[in-house]
Amino acid sequence: MTDSLTIRDNRTGVEYDLPITDGTIRAADLGKIKAEDEAPGLAVYDPGFVNTASCRSAVTYIDGDKGILEYRGYPIEQLAESSNFLEVAYLLIHGELPSQAEHDEWVHQITYHTFVHENVKSFMQGFRYDAHPMGMLMASVGALSTFYPDARNIHDADNRNIQVIRMIAKMPTLGAWSFRHAQGKPYVYPDNDLSYTANFLSMLFKMSESKFDADPRLVKALDTLFILHADHEQNCSANAVRSVGSSQVDPYSAVSAGIGALFGPLHGGANEAVLRMLKRIGTKSEIPAFIEGVKNGNERLMGFGHRVYKNYDPRAKIIKQQALNVFEVTGTNPLLEIALELEKIALEDEYFVKRRLYPNVDFYSGLIYEAFQFPPEMFTVLFAIGRTPGWLAQWLELVQDPEQKIARPKQIYTGARTLDFTPASQRWS
Ligand SMILES: CC(C)(COP(=O)(O)OP(=O)(O)OC[C@H]1O[C@@H](n2cnc3c(N)ncnc32)[C@H](O)[C@@H]1OP(=O)(O)O)[C@@H](O)C(=O)NCCC(=O)NCCS
Repeated sequence: MTDSLTIRDNRTGVEYDLPITDGTIRAADLGKIKAEDEAPGLAVYDPGFVNTASCRSAVTYIDGDKGILEYRGYPIEQLAESSNFLEVAYLLIHGELPSQAEHDEWVHQITYHTFVHENVKSFMQGFRYDAHPMGMLMASVGALSTFYPDARNIHDADNRNIQVIRMIAKMPTLGAWSFRHAQGKPYVYPDNDLSYTANFLSMLFKMSESKFDADPRLVKALDTLFILHADHEQNCSANAVRSVGSSQVDPYSAVSAGIGALFGPLHGGANEAVLRMLKRIGTKSEIPAFIEGVKNGNERLMGFGHRVYKNYDPRAKIIKQQALNVFEVTGTNPLLEIALELEKIALEDEYFVKRRLYPNVDFYSGLIYEAFQFPPEMFTVLFAIGRTPGWLAQWLELVQDPEQKIARPKQIYTGARTLDFTPASQRWS
Protein backbone atom coordinates (compact mmCIF):
# COMPACT_ATOMS: atom_id res chain seq x y z
CA MET A 1 0.00 0.00 0.00
CA THR A 2 1.33 3.43 -0.94
CA ASP A 3 0.52 6.35 1.30
CA SER A 4 -0.43 8.71 -1.46
CA LEU A 5 -3.43 9.96 -3.38
CA THR A 6 -3.44 10.15 -7.16
CA ILE A 7 -5.65 12.89 -8.54
CA ARG A 8 -6.37 13.35 -12.20
CA ASP A 9 -7.51 16.86 -13.07
CA ASN A 10 -9.99 16.31 -15.90
CA ARG A 11 -9.72 19.96 -16.92
CA THR A 12 -6.11 19.47 -17.95
CA GLY A 13 -5.58 15.71 -17.97
CA VAL A 14 -2.66 16.16 -15.56
CA GLU A 15 -2.18 13.63 -12.74
CA TYR A 16 -0.85 14.56 -9.33
CA ASP A 17 0.48 12.37 -6.54
CA LEU A 18 -0.22 13.81 -3.12
CA PRO A 19 1.38 12.24 -0.04
CA ILE A 20 -0.99 11.08 2.69
CA THR A 21 0.34 11.70 6.20
CA ASP A 22 -1.62 10.84 9.35
CA GLY A 23 -4.75 10.30 7.27
CA THR A 24 -4.58 13.77 5.72
CA ILE A 25 -3.37 15.44 2.57
CA ARG A 26 -1.91 18.93 2.72
CA ALA A 27 -4.18 21.65 1.42
CA ALA A 28 -1.04 23.37 0.09
CA ASP A 29 -0.44 20.33 -2.16
CA LEU A 30 -3.94 20.73 -3.58
CA GLY A 31 -3.03 24.36 -4.29
CA LYS A 32 -0.51 23.11 -6.87
CA ILE A 33 -3.39 21.76 -8.98
CA LYS A 34 -4.24 24.50 -11.48
CA ALA A 35 -6.36 24.70 -14.60
CA GLU A 36 -3.92 27.25 -16.06
CA ASP A 37 -0.57 28.56 -14.92
CA GLU A 38 -1.94 31.86 -13.61
CA ALA A 39 -5.19 30.41 -12.22
CA PRO A 40 -5.67 29.99 -8.44
CA GLY A 41 -4.87 26.51 -7.18
CA LEU A 42 -7.50 23.99 -6.12
CA ALA A 43 -8.94 24.59 -2.65
CA VAL A 44 -11.43 22.75 -0.44
CA TYR A 45 -14.81 24.16 0.56
CA ASP A 46 -15.48 23.17 4.16
CA PRO A 47 -17.88 25.43 6.12
CA GLY A 48 -17.38 24.83 9.85
CA PHE A 49 -14.07 23.00 9.11
CA VAL A 50 -15.86 19.73 9.74
CA ASN A 51 -13.34 17.71 7.73
CA THR A 52 -10.26 19.89 7.95
CA ALA A 53 -7.41 19.38 10.44
CA SER A 54 -6.18 22.82 11.50
CA CYS A 55 -3.30 21.69 13.70
CA ARG A 56 -1.32 18.84 15.16
CA SER A 57 -2.22 18.48 18.79
CA ALA A 58 -1.09 16.27 21.67
CA VAL A 59 -3.59 17.58 24.21
CA THR A 60 -6.87 15.63 23.89
CA TYR A 61 -7.84 12.44 22.10
CA ILE A 62 -11.45 11.61 21.23
CA ASP A 63 -12.82 8.49 19.56
CA GLY A 64 -16.50 9.27 19.14
CA ASP A 65 -17.47 5.82 17.84
CA LYS A 66 -16.03 4.07 20.87
CA GLY A 67 -16.94 6.81 23.38
CA ILE A 68 -13.30 7.50 24.37
CA LEU A 69 -12.01 10.80 25.78
CA GLU A 70 -8.42 11.14 27.00
CA TYR A 71 -6.42 14.12 28.22
CA ARG A 72 -2.74 13.68 27.38
CA GLY A 73 -3.46 9.95 27.03
CA TYR A 74 -5.23 9.49 30.39
CA PRO A 75 -8.87 8.28 30.22
CA ILE A 76 -11.38 10.82 31.49
CA GLU A 77 -13.00 8.21 33.74
CA GLN A 78 -9.76 7.71 35.71
CA LEU A 79 -9.06 11.41 36.00
CA ALA A 80 -12.62 12.15 37.16
CA GLU A 81 -12.48 9.35 39.71
CA SER A 82 -9.03 9.81 41.21
CA SER A 83 -7.56 13.19 40.27
CA ASN A 84 -8.64 16.75 40.96
CA PHE A 85 -9.16 19.77 38.74
CA LEU A 86 -5.85 21.52 39.47
CA GLU A 87 -3.86 18.35 38.85
CA VAL A 88 -5.74 17.85 35.57
CA ALA A 89 -5.04 21.50 34.70
CA TYR A 90 -1.33 20.85 35.30
CA LEU A 91 -1.51 17.76 33.10
CA LEU A 92 -3.16 19.67 30.25
CA ILE A 93 -0.78 22.62 30.48
CA HIS A 94 2.50 20.74 31.03
CA GLY A 95 1.75 17.54 29.15
CA GLU A 96 2.49 15.20 32.05
CA LEU A 97 1.44 14.54 35.60
CA PRO A 98 3.27 16.57 38.26
CA SER A 99 5.72 15.23 40.83
CA GLN A 100 4.70 16.05 44.38
CA ALA A 101 7.00 19.11 44.45
CA GLU A 102 5.66 20.33 41.09
CA HIS A 103 2.10 19.78 42.26
CA ASP A 104 2.61 21.67 45.52
CA GLU A 105 4.29 24.58 43.75
CA TRP A 106 1.51 24.68 41.11
CA VAL A 107 -1.29 24.67 43.71
CA HIS A 108 0.55 27.32 45.75
CA GLN A 109 1.03 29.55 42.69
CA ILE A 110 -2.61 29.25 41.59
CA THR A 111 -3.87 29.83 45.13
CA TYR A 112 -1.78 32.98 45.55
CA HIS A 113 -2.91 34.52 42.26
CA THR A 114 -6.66 34.35 42.91
CA PHE A 115 -6.96 38.00 43.92
CA VAL A 116 -7.55 40.62 41.24
CA HIS A 117 -6.59 44.29 41.17
CA GLU A 118 -9.16 46.43 43.00
CA ASN A 119 -9.81 48.34 39.79
CA VAL A 120 -11.14 45.11 38.25
CA LYS A 121 -13.69 45.02 41.04
CA SER A 122 -14.72 48.63 40.43
CA PHE A 123 -15.24 48.22 36.73
CA MET A 124 -17.21 45.00 37.26
CA GLN A 125 -19.42 46.96 39.63
CA GLY A 126 -20.09 49.33 36.74
CA PHE A 127 -22.10 46.72 34.80
CA ARG A 128 -25.88 47.05 34.78
CA TYR A 129 -27.67 45.27 37.63
CA ASP A 130 -29.04 42.62 35.23
CA ALA A 131 -25.85 42.08 33.19
CA HIS A 132 -25.45 38.51 31.95
CA PRO A 133 -22.62 36.94 34.01
CA MET A 134 -21.06 35.42 30.89
CA GLY A 135 -20.83 38.87 29.26
CA MET A 136 -19.23 40.17 32.46
CA LEU A 137 -16.74 37.29 32.51
CA MET A 138 -15.80 37.75 28.85
CA ALA A 139 -15.25 41.50 29.33
CA SER A 140 -13.28 41.18 32.54
CA VAL A 141 -10.97 38.45 31.21
CA GLY A 142 -10.32 40.61 28.13
CA ALA A 143 -9.67 43.58 30.42
CA LEU A 144 -6.97 41.66 32.30
CA SER A 145 -4.76 42.29 29.26
CA THR A 146 -4.67 45.95 30.31
CA PHE A 147 -3.52 44.99 33.82
CA TYR A 148 -0.78 42.71 32.52
CA PRO A 149 0.59 44.41 29.40
CA ASP A 150 3.66 42.15 29.62
CA ALA A 151 1.34 39.30 28.56
CA ARG A 152 1.94 40.47 24.97
CA ASN A 153 5.39 38.97 25.25
CA ILE A 154 4.11 35.58 24.14
CA HIS A 155 7.48 34.30 22.90
CA ASP A 156 8.94 34.23 26.41
CA ALA A 157 8.26 30.90 28.18
CA ASP A 158 8.43 32.34 31.74
CA ASN A 159 6.04 35.08 30.75
CA ARG A 160 3.58 32.61 29.24
CA ASN A 161 3.77 30.56 32.40
CA ILE A 162 2.83 33.38 34.74
CA GLN A 163 -0.11 34.44 32.56
CA VAL A 164 -1.38 30.83 32.51
CA ILE A 165 -1.23 30.72 36.32
CA ARG A 166 -2.95 34.08 36.62
CA MET A 167 -5.76 33.17 34.29
CA ILE A 168 -6.58 29.77 35.85
CA ALA A 169 -6.36 31.41 39.31
CA LYS A 170 -8.53 34.44 38.59
CA MET A 171 -11.27 32.80 36.56
CA PRO A 172 -13.28 31.62 39.61
CA THR A 173 -12.94 35.06 41.21
CA LEU A 174 -14.32 36.78 38.11
CA GLY A 175 -17.01 34.12 37.60
CA ALA A 176 -18.18 34.31 41.22
CA TRP A 177 -18.25 38.11 41.17
CA SER A 178 -20.32 38.10 37.97
CA PHE A 179 -22.81 35.88 39.83
CA ARG A 180 -22.89 38.06 42.96
CA HIS A 181 -23.35 41.17 40.86
CA ALA A 182 -26.69 40.01 39.42
CA GLN A 183 -27.87 39.22 42.95
CA GLY A 184 -26.90 42.61 44.34
CA LYS A 185 -24.67 40.90 46.88
CA PRO A 186 -21.21 42.10 47.94
CA TYR A 187 -18.28 40.47 46.15
CA VAL A 188 -16.47 37.94 48.34
CA TYR A 189 -12.66 37.90 48.30
CA PRO A 190 -10.80 34.63 47.74
CA ASP A 191 -9.98 32.50 50.79
CA ASN A 192 -6.50 31.08 50.28
CA ASP A 193 -7.00 28.43 52.96
CA LEU A 194 -9.50 26.65 50.75
CA SER A 195 -9.04 24.38 47.75
CA TYR A 196 -9.63 25.82 44.27
CA THR A 197 -13.23 24.60 44.04
CA ALA A 198 -14.12 25.11 47.72
CA ASN A 199 -12.86 28.69 47.41
CA PHE A 200 -15.04 29.21 44.33
CA LEU A 201 -18.10 28.02 46.29
CA SER A 202 -17.14 30.36 49.12
CA MET A 203 -16.91 33.34 46.74
CA LEU A 204 -20.31 32.39 45.31
CA PHE A 205 -22.32 31.72 48.45
CA LYS A 206 -20.61 33.16 51.56
CA MET A 207 -22.63 35.70 53.49
CA SER A 208 -21.82 36.80 57.06
CA GLU A 209 -20.12 33.61 58.29
CA SER A 210 -16.37 33.99 58.86
CA LYS A 211 -15.59 30.81 56.92
CA PHE A 212 -17.69 29.17 54.23
CA ASP A 213 -17.72 25.44 54.74
CA ALA A 214 -19.05 23.70 51.62
CA ASP A 215 -20.14 20.06 51.86
CA PRO A 216 -17.22 17.97 50.48
CA ARG A 217 -19.64 16.04 48.21
CA LEU A 218 -20.65 19.30 46.54
CA VAL A 219 -17.00 20.35 46.20
CA LYS A 220 -16.17 16.98 44.63
CA ALA A 221 -19.14 17.19 42.23
CA LEU A 222 -18.23 20.66 40.98
CA ASP A 223 -14.53 19.77 40.79
CA THR A 224 -15.47 16.71 38.71
CA LEU A 225 -17.60 18.83 36.39
CA PHE A 226 -14.61 21.14 35.88
CA ILE A 227 -12.47 18.10 35.00
CA LEU A 228 -15.05 16.82 32.52
CA HIS A 229 -15.21 20.19 30.77
CA ALA A 230 -11.47 20.93 30.84
CA ASP A 231 -10.84 20.24 27.14
CA HIS A 232 -12.53 18.76 24.10
CA GLU A 233 -9.93 19.21 21.34
CA GLN A 234 -10.76 21.49 18.38
CA ASN A 235 -14.30 22.54 19.37
CA CYS A 236 -15.74 25.95 18.53
CA SER A 237 -14.23 27.85 21.47
CA ALA A 238 -10.80 26.16 21.28
CA ASN A 239 -10.79 27.04 17.60
CA ALA A 240 -11.71 30.64 18.50
CA VAL A 241 -8.82 30.83 20.98
CA ARG A 242 -6.42 29.42 18.39
CA SER A 243 -7.73 31.63 15.62
CA VAL A 244 -7.48 34.85 17.63
CA GLY A 245 -4.23 33.69 19.26
CA SER A 246 -2.72 33.09 15.81
CA SER A 247 -2.45 36.87 15.45
CA GLN A 248 0.03 36.64 18.38
CA VAL A 249 -2.23 38.69 20.63
CA ASP A 250 -1.93 38.23 24.42
CA PRO A 251 -3.64 35.17 25.98
CA TYR A 252 -6.29 37.20 27.85
CA SER A 253 -7.66 38.54 24.56
CA ALA A 254 -7.51 35.07 22.99
CA VAL A 255 -9.29 33.38 25.92
CA SER A 256 -11.90 36.11 26.02
CA ALA A 257 -12.68 35.21 22.37
CA GLY A 258 -13.08 31.59 23.52
CA ILE A 259 -15.55 32.74 26.18
CA GLY A 260 -17.48 34.57 23.46
CA ALA A 261 -17.69 31.36 21.43
CA LEU A 262 -18.84 29.37 24.45
CA PHE A 263 -21.57 31.94 25.15
CA GLY A 264 -23.48 30.85 22.02
CA PRO A 265 -26.44 28.44 22.39
CA LEU A 266 -24.98 25.90 19.96
CA HIS A 267 -21.92 25.46 22.13
CA GLY A 268 -22.51 25.95 25.85
CA GLY A 269 -26.27 26.20 26.16
CA ALA A 270 -27.74 22.71 25.71
CA ASN A 271 -28.02 21.87 29.42
CA GLU A 272 -30.37 24.79 29.90
CA ALA A 273 -32.52 23.42 27.06
CA VAL A 274 -32.58 20.02 28.83
CA LEU A 275 -33.95 21.64 32.00
CA ARG A 276 -36.64 23.47 30.03
CA MET A 277 -37.60 20.21 28.34
CA LEU A 278 -37.81 18.26 31.64
CA LYS A 279 -39.94 21.00 33.19
CA ARG A 280 -42.25 20.97 30.20
CA ILE A 281 -42.68 17.18 30.34
CA GLY A 282 -43.59 17.68 34.01
CA THR A 283 -44.53 14.11 35.04
CA LYS A 284 -43.41 10.59 34.18
CA SER A 285 -46.80 9.78 32.68
CA GLU A 286 -46.21 12.38 29.96
CA ILE A 287 -42.96 10.75 28.78
CA PRO A 288 -44.44 8.30 26.22
CA ALA A 289 -46.34 11.12 24.47
CA PHE A 290 -43.20 13.25 24.47
CA ILE A 291 -41.10 10.41 23.00
CA GLU A 292 -43.74 9.90 20.29
CA GLY A 293 -43.46 13.61 19.42
CA VAL A 294 -39.67 13.30 19.13
CA LYS A 295 -39.97 10.23 16.91
CA ASN A 296 -42.47 12.04 14.70
CA GLY A 297 -39.87 14.77 14.21
CA ASN A 298 -41.76 17.47 16.16
CA GLU A 299 -38.78 18.19 18.37
CA ARG A 300 -35.48 16.78 19.63
CA LEU A 301 -34.73 14.97 22.84
CA MET A 302 -32.33 17.55 24.28
CA GLY A 303 -29.17 16.18 25.90
CA PHE A 304 -29.16 13.24 23.49
CA GLY A 305 -26.94 12.84 20.46
CA HIS A 306 -23.57 14.38 19.72
CA ARG A 307 -21.69 15.45 16.62
CA VAL A 308 -18.67 13.38 17.64
CA TYR A 309 -19.90 10.72 20.10
CA LYS A 310 -21.96 8.01 18.44
CA ASN A 311 -21.83 6.03 21.64
CA TYR A 312 -22.47 6.88 25.30
CA ASP A 313 -20.64 10.21 25.91
CA PRO A 314 -18.08 9.04 28.53
CA ARG A 315 -18.68 12.25 30.49
CA ALA A 316 -22.43 11.60 30.79
CA LYS A 317 -21.95 8.44 32.89
CA ILE A 318 -19.70 10.29 35.35
CA ILE A 319 -22.06 13.25 35.59
CA LYS A 320 -25.00 10.97 36.27
CA GLN A 321 -23.19 9.53 39.30
CA GLN A 322 -22.24 13.00 40.52
CA ALA A 323 -25.87 14.12 40.17
CA LEU A 324 -26.92 11.31 42.52
CA ASN A 325 -24.20 12.36 45.03
CA VAL A 326 -25.31 16.00 44.89
CA PHE A 327 -28.96 15.12 45.46
CA GLU A 328 -27.92 13.25 48.61
CA VAL A 329 -26.90 16.63 49.99
CA THR A 330 -29.48 18.96 48.47
CA GLY A 331 -32.51 16.65 48.43
CA THR A 332 -33.75 15.21 45.18
CA ASN A 333 -34.97 17.22 42.25
CA PRO A 334 -38.28 15.86 40.91
CA LEU A 335 -36.87 16.42 37.42
CA LEU A 336 -34.25 13.73 38.09
CA GLU A 337 -36.93 11.03 38.09
CA ILE A 338 -38.17 12.22 34.73
CA ALA A 339 -34.62 12.34 33.36
CA LEU A 340 -33.84 8.78 34.55
CA GLU A 341 -37.06 7.42 33.08
CA LEU A 342 -36.56 9.31 29.83
CA GLU A 343 -33.05 7.92 29.50
CA LYS A 344 -34.25 4.37 30.21
CA ILE A 345 -36.98 4.53 27.59
CA ALA A 346 -34.81 6.23 24.97
CA LEU A 347 -31.96 3.75 25.36
CA GLU A 348 -34.33 0.87 24.61
CA ASP A 349 -36.24 2.55 21.81
CA GLU A 350 -35.40 1.49 18.28
CA TYR A 351 -35.51 5.12 16.98
CA PHE A 352 -32.66 6.21 19.26
CA VAL A 353 -30.74 2.93 19.09
CA LYS A 354 -30.73 2.95 15.28
CA ARG A 355 -29.49 6.53 15.13
CA ARG A 356 -26.89 5.92 17.84
CA LEU A 357 -28.31 8.63 20.08
CA TYR A 358 -27.03 8.41 23.65
CA PRO A 359 -27.06 10.87 26.56
CA ASN A 360 -24.40 13.57 26.20
CA VAL A 361 -22.58 15.67 28.80
CA ASP A 362 -25.48 18.10 29.07
CA PHE A 363 -28.20 15.61 29.94
CA TYR A 364 -27.51 15.66 33.70
CA SER A 365 -25.24 18.69 34.20
CA GLY A 366 -28.12 21.21 34.24
CA LEU A 367 -29.81 19.22 36.99
CA ILE A 368 -26.66 19.39 39.11
CA TYR A 369 -26.27 23.11 38.53
CA GLU A 370 -29.89 23.68 39.45
CA ALA A 371 -29.37 21.73 42.67
CA PHE A 372 -26.56 24.20 43.50
CA GLN A 373 -29.18 26.93 42.90
CA PHE A 374 -27.33 28.40 39.95
CA PRO A 375 -29.56 30.30 37.56
CA PRO A 376 -29.25 29.05 33.94
CA GLU A 377 -27.19 32.12 32.96
CA MET A 378 -24.40 30.79 35.19
CA PHE A 379 -24.15 27.44 33.39
CA THR A 380 -21.80 28.67 30.69
CA VAL A 381 -19.71 30.57 33.27
CA LEU A 382 -19.09 27.27 35.06
CA PHE A 383 -18.22 25.67 31.73
CA ALA A 384 -15.76 28.49 30.99
CA ILE A 385 -13.96 28.08 34.33
CA GLY A 386 -13.55 24.36 33.65
CA ARG A 387 -12.47 24.91 30.04
CA THR A 388 -9.77 27.51 30.80
CA PRO A 389 -6.85 25.05 31.19
CA GLY A 390 -7.89 23.44 27.89
CA TRP A 391 -7.97 26.77 26.06
CA LEU A 392 -4.57 27.64 27.51
CA ALA A 393 -3.09 24.25 26.62
CA GLN A 394 -4.32 24.74 23.04
CA TRP A 395 -2.91 28.28 23.00
CA LEU A 396 0.49 27.18 24.36
CA GLU A 397 0.66 24.49 21.69
CA LEU A 398 -0.24 27.02 19.01
CA VAL A 399 2.37 29.63 19.94
CA GLN A 400 5.13 27.03 20.08
CA ASP A 401 4.20 25.27 16.84
CA PRO A 402 6.52 26.41 14.01
CA GLU A 403 3.99 25.20 11.41
CA GLN A 404 1.22 27.50 12.61
CA LYS A 405 0.33 30.63 10.67
CA ILE A 406 -2.14 33.44 11.19
CA ALA A 407 -5.63 31.97 10.64
CA ARG A 408 -6.89 33.22 7.32
CA PRO A 409 -9.33 30.91 5.51
CA LYS A 410 -10.16 31.26 1.85
CA GLN A 411 -13.58 32.15 0.51
CA ILE A 412 -15.54 31.45 -2.64
CA TYR A 413 -16.54 34.93 -3.74
CA THR A 414 -20.18 35.11 -4.87
CA GLY A 415 -20.73 38.88 -5.06
CA ALA A 416 -20.74 41.45 -7.87
CA ARG A 417 -17.59 42.64 -9.67
CA THR A 418 -16.22 45.84 -11.23
CA LEU A 419 -19.32 47.99 -10.77
CA ASP A 420 -18.95 51.73 -11.39
CA PHE A 421 -19.55 53.89 -8.33
CA THR A 422 -21.88 56.86 -8.73
CA PRO A 423 -21.69 59.44 -5.90
CA ALA A 424 -24.79 59.68 -3.69
CA SER A 425 -25.54 63.23 -4.86
CA GLN A 426 -26.08 61.87 -8.41
CA ARG A 427 -27.79 58.59 -7.42
CA TRP A 428 -30.36 60.32 -5.28
CA SER A 429 -31.10 63.33 -7.48
C1 LIG B 1 -25.90 17.33 19.05
C2 LIG B 1 -26.58 17.26 17.67
C3 LIG B 1 -26.70 18.68 17.13
C4 LIG B 1 -25.69 16.40 16.76
O1 LIG B 1 -26.28 16.38 15.52
P1 LIG B 1 -25.71 15.60 14.27
O2 LIG B 1 -24.55 14.74 14.62
O3 LIG B 1 -25.51 16.58 13.19
O4 LIG B 1 -26.90 14.61 13.95
P2 LIG B 1 -28.06 14.89 12.93
O5 LIG B 1 -28.69 16.20 13.23
O6 LIG B 1 -27.51 14.65 11.57
O7 LIG B 1 -29.09 13.75 13.31
C5 LIG B 1 -29.01 12.39 12.83
C6 LIG B 1 -30.37 11.75 13.03
O8 LIG B 1 -30.67 11.63 14.43
C7 LIG B 1 -31.80 12.43 14.77
N1 LIG B 1 -31.45 13.13 16.02
C8 LIG B 1 -30.25 13.66 16.35
N2 LIG B 1 -30.30 14.13 17.62
C9 LIG B 1 -31.55 13.89 18.05
C10 LIG B 1 -32.20 14.16 19.28
N3 LIG B 1 -31.54 14.76 20.29
N4 LIG B 1 -33.48 13.80 19.40
C11 LIG B 1 -34.12 13.19 18.39
N5 LIG B 1 -33.57 12.90 17.21
C12 LIG B 1 -32.29 13.26 17.05
C13 LIG B 1 -31.99 13.40 13.64
O9 LIG B 1 -33.33 13.81 13.52
C14 LIG B 1 -31.53 12.58 12.47
O10 LIG B 1 -32.57 11.66 12.15
P3 LIG B 1 -32.89 11.31 10.61
O11 LIG B 1 -31.67 10.59 10.12
O12 LIG B 1 -34.12 10.47 10.68
O13 LIG B 1 -33.11 12.63 9.93
C15 LIG B 1 -27.98 16.59 17.81
O14 LIG B 1 -27.85 15.27 18.27
C16 LIG B 1 -28.93 17.38 18.73
O15 LIG B 1 -29.56 18.33 18.28
N6 LIG B 1 -29.01 16.99 20.03
C17 LIG B 1 -29.86 17.71 20.97
C18 LIG B 1 -29.16 18.95 21.47
C19 LIG B 1 -28.03 18.65 22.41
O16 LIG B 1 -28.19 17.88 23.36
N7 LIG B 1 -26.88 19.30 22.19
C20 LIG B 1 -25.74 19.15 23.06
C21 LIG B 1 -24.59 18.56 22.36
S1 LIG B 1 -23.24 18.37 23.50
